Amino acid sequence: MKPNLSTLLGGMTPEQFLADYWQKKPLLVKNAVPGAEKLIDREGLLALATSEDMESRFVSQAGGWQMRHGPFTLNELKRAGKPWTVLVQSVNLALAAGDEFMRSFDFIPHARLDDLMISYANDGGGVGPHFDSYDVFLIQGMGKRRWRIGKQKDKTLIDGLPVRILQDFRPSHDWVVEPGDLLYLPPEWAHDGIAVGECMTYSVGFRASPSQELAEQFLMFLQDRICLDGRYRDPGLKRQKHPAEIGTAMIDQVAGILDEIRWNRDTVRDFLGASLTEPKPHVFFDPPARPLSLTRFTAAARKRGVALDRRTQLLFSGRRFYLNGESWTLPKDAVPTIRTLADQRAVGPLPVLDEEAMADLHSAYCDGFLHLG
Ligand code: SIN
Ligand code: CO
Repeated sequence: MKPNLSTLLGGMTPEQFLADYWQKKPLLVKNAVPGAEKLIDREGLLALATSEDMESRFVSQAGGWQMRHGPFTLNELKRAGKPWTVLVQSVNLALAAGDEFMRSFDFIPHARLDDLMISYANDGGGVGPHFDSYDVFLIQGMGKRRWRIGKQKDKTLIDGLPVRILQDFRPSHDWVVEPGDLLYLPPEWAHDGIAVGECMTYSVGFRASPSQELAEQFLMFLQDRICLDGRYRDPGLKRQKHPAEIGTAMIDQVAGILDEIRWNRDTVRDFLGASLTEPKPHVFFDPPARPLSLTRFTAAARKRGVALDRRTQLLFSGRRFYLNGESWTLPKDAVPTIRTLADQRAVGPLPVLDEEAMADLHSAYCDGFLHLG
């Protein structure tokens, strides 16, 4: 189930979409992903919601809004009062088909792409009118859903509910979507999707950190890299009138020490590379049971190529590569091949690469970060 770019944006090029819609206005595309309902069925999704490895939520309106975190048992779901919906996060990490589906949106940089969430709702189910802080593509899988959306200023939520529900939802558009239809919503647009009969919806979500969070994370990153010499000293100390006073000489000296904390664009690049490729907390890799030696791996990769594990994040900036939180600088000759691997997540028979690059690929293979093609 790989969405096709010729229909995904209703005949628009990604360039046109980015110029006119991305982060600007919503877009509804009828039949953007023909056959979208084949990606996963209700049983498949509910099975994921029973797994401890997945992050899932159950939202019900029976007797007021309720929300619970998974995993769930199938019996528990069967017995629940309707209408309800189950939402499973990061389906792309669990299913190769989900990963392939999400990757079709790679006209947006990988660094912005977050995950594929899939929901199942029975008739009348949904998570209520709310807004999200992220861009989202909502693709209709099985069944129909009524979407009402609006760009309202009033973002007040109802107090004391376990789900984020807008107090005064004022939709300006009202559509019933069918399997394969796509709705793009920029951040902060209010929306409410109500299942018309039972239905499933796929959300391709993006990440965009709040400035405060970026700053806090950057300072933590910097903390591990700071290396300042010397120590506070005061050989010229004069007796103070007030022993309790923090003297100006002390403030000046410490301000001077702190002025030595430096960072530049390379530090920022390394921070982004490390933080954007850091695996999510519940992600674990499966190293090969009997890994090939470097020599045999090299021979096999030259014949078959290599592919990233679907949980792997590989990004780059110039010659610097970031693989699941670790950084690599590659010799010039290896750069085009590993860039292809990062962009396309797989690369055909490998050319002869520098020994060091091959050793790095082999070690990534031993960690389960990539596999032979
Ligand atoms: C859903 O799939 O039910 C919720 C998607 C959303 O409104 O963000
Ligand atoms: Co939403």
